[in-house]
Amino acid sequence: MKALVYHGPGHKAWEDTPKPAIADDTDAIVRVDATTICGTDLHILKGDVPAVVDGRILGHEAVGTVEAVGTGVKRVRVGDRVLVSCITACGSCRYCREGSYGQCLGGGGWILGHTIDGTQAELVRVPFADTSTYLCPAGVSDEQILMLADILPTGYEVGVLNGHVSPGDVVAVVGAGPIGLAAIMGARLYSPAHIVAIDKADARLEAAKQFGADVVVNNDREDPAAVLAKLTDGLGADVTIEAVGIPATFELAAALVRPAGYVANIGVHGEPATLHLEDLWIKDVTITTGLVDTYSTPTLLKLVATRQVDASAFVTHRFELDDFMNAYEVFGNAADTGALKVVLERKG
Ligand SMILES: NC(=O)c1ccc[n+]([C@@H]2O[C@H](COP(=O)([O-])OP(=O)(O)OC[C@H]3O[C@@H](n4cnc5c(N)ncnc54)[C@H](O)[C@@H]3O)[C@@H](O)[C@H]2O)c1
Ligand SMILES: [Zn+2]
Ligand SMILES: [Zn+2]
Repeated sequence: MKALVYHGPGHKAWEDTPKPAIADDTDAIVRVDATTICGTDLHILKGDVPAVVDGRILGHEAVGTVEAVGTGVKRVRVGDRVLVSCITACGSCRYCREGSYGQCLGGGGWILGHTIDGTQAELVRVPFADTSTYLCPAGVSDEQILMLADILPTGYEVGVLNGHVSPGDVVAVVGAGPIGLAAIMGARLYSPAHIVAIDKADARLEAAKQFGADVVVNNDREDPAAVLAKLTDGLGADVTIEAVGIPATFELAAALVRPAGYVANIGVHGEPATLHLEDLWIKDVTITTGLVDTYSTPTLLKLVATRQVDASAFVTHRFELDDFMNAYEVFGNAADTGALKVVLERKG
């Protein structure tokens, strides 16, 4: 079969690889019908994720058709159309029993395209198939469901739910990439008074308006603190959501929150950020961090199936499955191409 294989920093190829086979009796082999590229894959290609070794097939998001199941698989059947989630769950460890699948101790967590071969391939082996895949509802396109493999649950769980977004809130989202936009989409479900999107790229702020932000701030030109002060009688945002992953944006998110508000960090940080306790100690704020668990996936599937969430809004570019090199080019140059999510689909 063909797959997108990582060959060390800066190197990747769409090349022939051995077909995956059932290795454990709880595995499924899934034929990939649609997959996508994540910002994390770009981090891997820069060499920022050393756990990913030369020869690894990338990708942690897919919609596909089950081709084979191990003898221990009880729920998933050959022929099922399933969502393959970025988080794999053993289903029985301490963390899985609490719904914290991202922290799985039994061999799950974020493993696809990380510590085992991933979904940017014609076929993928999915461990713990019963607890790591979701049956796709009928009548919803592959590309919509694909957005549930990572970005929608991430924005919703690590941003909106960790941030306790509530009706009437003023919510500030720092960073309007796919993750920030997913947080904006999720925040709208709670009828906030205002959603303020903050980004340095005007194209991303335009997208933020489409996704439901009613105020946009380019923080290269305008001071977000002044904008939020006007909206909140000087108090600051009820909830700030960090969706970039650099020290400056974490510090901005922490500075924009009102006393007794929430700061929900989603960004993956590669270096230390300053926690300004000299300002924060007196403010009663709650700061949360998190890797997505995907416990909200069943809820989000219902919202997509009933058209309350339009996940297709993320898809800006479409390619055939064997056109990965071009898809990476377009996704990697989002500033010029306007890419949010690119979808690669099997022909026919
Ligand atoms: N916690 C999790 O489980 C999880 C899961 C997936 C992704 N992530 C992380 O979420 C973050 C966002 O992901 P994405 O795919 O949307 O990334 P992205 O790079 O597409 O978007 C980031 C946005 O931030 C903007 N930005 C950059 N610097 C800024 C600044 N100083 N001020 C304001 N805006 C600025 C950029 O213009 C861009 O629009 C990344 O760090 C990613 O690794 C976390
Ligand atoms: Zn991802
Ligand atoms: Zn587990």
